[in-house]
Amino acid sequence: MSVHTILEKRRSVRHFDSNYTIRAEVLTSIIESASKSPNGNNIQATRYLIIDDPKLRSTLLPIAFNQQQVVDASALVVMLGDYWAFEQDNIIKIHEEGFQAGFFDESLRDYLANAAIQYYAAKSNEELKLELTRDVSLASMSFILLANEAGFETITMSGYDSAQLKASLNIPDRYLDVMLIAIGKGTKNGHQTVRHPVHQIMYRNSITSLV
Ligand SMILES: Cc1cc2nc3c(=O)[nH]c(=O)nc-3n(C[C@H](O)[C@H](O)[C@H](O)COP(=O)(O)O)c2cc1C
Repeated sequence: MSVHTILEKRRSVRHFDSNYTIRAEVLTSIIESASKSPNGNNIQATRYLIIDDPKLRSTLLPIAFNQQQVVDASALVVMLGDYWAFEQDNIIKIHEEGFQAGFFDESLRDYLANAAIQYYAAKSNEELKLELTRDVSLASMSFILLANEAGFETITMSGYDSAQLKASLNIPDRYLDVMLIAIGKGTKNGHQTVRHPVHQIMYRNSITSLV
């Protein structure tokens, strides 16, 4: 299926077959491909916390305002950004790996690593949070597209209590929880949703001049 077709057909699905299990290697393959998404300076900050344990998911149900997909989907993925990815050690290591793989020479390795280190050193906490949100969101959309391509349905969720979720899953403060994605076999189509006509959302050269 083309990306275009997936985007036209995809719906947020809220009813899942609770008996359906996604094989671990299928989920791993989706995540491996999602990890190829663009990300700032290639610091690779996105983490995927898969929750498929039924007991854990029952605990999360009230935390996610009793959204049934939390327990019925095959898996719930907590999409996380790791603040430690901004640390120099990580940045240097990743660029060294690129050099060792033969993807660039020493001078480009050093240039890219130093540029990334300086870029993040100048950022406030709020700006770093935005950096993580960008990277994790791009990976999340890739995950959703890949899941649909593989014949699954998904729903993205921000409807949960972040502090309670982090406490109940023992997620340390170094991680930013950006969203949850439930994935599984849908049992009921998601309702259709409208979108603004494209000419209402598209501007050219100036935010005041609609195309
Ligand atoms: C960041 C984000 C958070 C969302 N949170 C929830 C949620 O907690 N519960 C829910 O039922 N739908 C949630 N949705 C799904 C949206 O309601 C849905 O994407 C939107 O209505 C458009 O419908 P569609 O995805 O079927 O095209 C969320 C979507 C996004 C992108």
